[in-house]
Order: sequence, then C-alpha cells, then structure tokens
Amino acid sequence: MDFDAPYSRRGSYSVKHDGLAEKFGLTGEEWLPLWVADMDFPSPQVVKDAIIKRAEQGAYGYVGGYQSQYKDIVYAWFAGRQGIQVDRKAFLVNDTIVAGINRMIRAFSQKGDKVIIQTPVYPPFHYAVINNERELVYNPLKKTATGYEMDYDDLVAKIDSRCKLLIFCSPHNPVGRVWRLEELKKLWEICYQHNILIISDEAHADIVYSGHKHINFLNVASQVKERVIVCTSPHKTFNMAGLQISNLIIPNEHLRHAYARMLLREAYPKPNIFALVACMAAYGKAAPWLEELLVYLEANRDFIAEYLAQEIPQIGYDKPEGTFLAWLDFSAFGLTGEKLRELILKKARVVLNDGAVFGVEGNSFMRLNFACPRAQIEIALERIKKALS
Ligand SMILES: Cc1ncc(COP(=O)(O)O)c(C=O)c1O
Repeated sequence: MDFDAPYSRRGSYSVKHDGLAEKFGLTGEEWLPLWVADMDFPSPQVVKDAIIKRAEQGAYGYVGGYQSQYKDIVYAWFAGRQGIQVDRKAFLVNDTIVAGINRMIRAFSQKGDKVIIQTPVYPPFHYAVINNERELVYNPLKKTATGYEMDYDDLVAKIDSRCKLLIFCSPHNPVGRVWRLEELKKLWEICYQHNILIISDEAHADIVYSGHKHINFLNVASQVKERVIVCTSPHKTFNMAGLQISNLIIPNEHLRHAYARMLLREAYPKPNIFALVACMAAYGKAAPWLEELLVYLEANRDFIAEYLAQEIPQIGYDKPEGTFLAWLDFSAFGLTGEKLRELILKKARVVLNDGAVFGVEGNSFMRLNFACPRAQIEIALERIKKALS
C-alpha cells in the first residue's frame, strides 16, 4: 500500500477530523489533527472487501453460527504471532477494550476497593476507576536517562489490602515502552504476592518496532493464567476502532464466568455483523499489510527524531519502542500548560493530545499521533517550530 498517498477522512464521522467542532469548537479546514489514536490510512483492502461482501448480501438479521470459525482465526493470530498457549475457551469476544475494563472493575472489585494505574497513562483507565467508584492508586513511571521504567519500590510501598486490581498498559500509551520479560516478571511477582489481579491492556501489541518484541502477559510465568487477563483488539492494528470488537483472554475459568455473567447482566448482544467479518478478515488475511505498515510507521517515528534533533532540539523525544504515538516533552520551554496548549492549537493549528490528561506527570507534554502520511507530520512540525520561535 502507498502510505504516502494523500487520504481524506473528512465527512466520514471520524472524531479525529469531523469531531473538532464538537470537541474544541474548531471549524474550518486549517487544523491539522494528530490527536486521537487511530490512523489516517484506509484499513487493509481485505477488511474493506469483507465488509462490502457482507453488506452486499443484503439481509442484516441476528448474528450466530460464527463461534468456531471466528475463534480459530483469532486464536491462530495470537498463537502464531505471540506464542501464547491457552485453551481457546479462554477467548471471549467483546465490544471495546474500554468497556471491558469498566466491566472487569465491576466484576472483580467492590466499591471503595483500590485500583492501581501507572501514570502517565491512557485517560480512560483513570475514568474507569473513578466512574465505578473505586479508589485510584497512582504508581507513576520513572523517567530515567534511558527512558521510562516501572517503579517497583513505589508500587510495593503503595499496596495495601484494599488494592485489588492493576490496570497495565503494554505496550504503554503514551510513553511507547514495549516491556521486557524481566520487567514483566518483576511486576507479576509483586502482584502475585499481594493477590492483585492484573488486567493487561495490549491494545497496541501489534505496533512494535525493530529491536523490540511484545510479550503477551500470559507468557510471563507459568502461574499467570490464574491471575492475569489480557485485553486485545484489532482496532489499532487495522484502523477499525469504529467497528467496536475486541477479544479478551481470560484463562481462569472463575474469572471468565464472572466476566461472562457481567456481559449477561448488561445484556451485551452478539458482535455487530460487520465487526465480526472485518475482524476475521483482518486476523486471517491482513498480516502482509501490517508488515508494510510497520515499516512505514517506524520511518515516521525516526523522521520525527531527526526533525526534532535538527530543528527543535528543545523538545524532548524518546523514540517509542511501540505504538504510533510520540510523547513530546516541552518542559524546556518553561511554558504553563495553558500557554503551551494555546501555542500548539491556536498558533500552530495542530491538534495534539494534552499531556496533562494522562496524569500530572504529563504536564508540559503533548502526544502526537504519527500514523498518517509523512508529509502531514512534516507540516505539523514546521508549524510547531514556527509557533515556538
Ligand atoms: C491502551 C489503550 N487501550 C484501549 C484503547 C481503546 O481500545 P477500544 O477502542 O477497544 O476501547 C486505546 C486507544 O487509544 C488504548 O490506547
């Protein structure tokens, strides 16, 4: 696929492009949106073809009879690419990961229990805990000279008997870490010792760059299957978040049944028919497309590093090991959060995610989504450079 080809998503009900007026009051065409974590590329042709074929069939009645074929395809992806060895019964089809995390908080903890998150982190983790009336415990990542790391001492110091869950982000949004086995093992040992269930959100698992390898949490230790749930989805990988389908891996039967009861209680229906065929086409046929995508995204990631080093060296940027998100540190400019937002949005007319919404550690950071044609990134960086000079 030609990822450089100009591609417009305007007029398609895309929140990134068409949601600017509702969200920020921005009208007109001059805004360059590099915020929401989806891609400005079309999904793989095989995914489009599957949706079109199903649409052309013409009848859109109740969905069924898919379980065996669907599970075979999804299972083959995770067994083949990530080497997991679990019974395929462990897989549950689900709507979105965020909805799943909210349900898990309700299914596996009580009001007033504590839930740990590792900030700065994907904002819906914060909201899920607060909205379900659990108490947030922050275990901030440490920023070292070589990048972000988990702070195990802080984690141990904060754990008490009310801590029931840890929502883990792997690869990590926004800092772009792809966790190494020894890091995952340390986290697992602490959580296991203190009886804390790990919900490992692996939404970005397929977007990992050369020299790094995503490790599915189910491969961390032999006992993990009892105390770990892995959330996966084709949304990021194949640009299909609008379809709303994810796959949860819950090897522990009791936890799986508890989650399934939560789905029943909420009257969660069968998956949407277009999501179902799209997910099967993506995992079944789009691996070659993904390989091409990764080459392009990695070059975008490196382009940003080169541009910033030459043109705006005051912006801090550790190349992400995974995800298509650049976590940019503007602290050297000494601006207040408000002033920074105003400069980037109003002066540069580039729409980024404000770092503060990921946690206080994100003050003076901004998140830039580089899953778009490189020319767009170049324009955005030029505008940012001008606005800051
Ligand atoms: C870590 C993480 N989890 C989940 C999601 C969203 O997944 P879903 O669309 O399945 O809710 C995102 C999207 O940005 C994300 O970054």
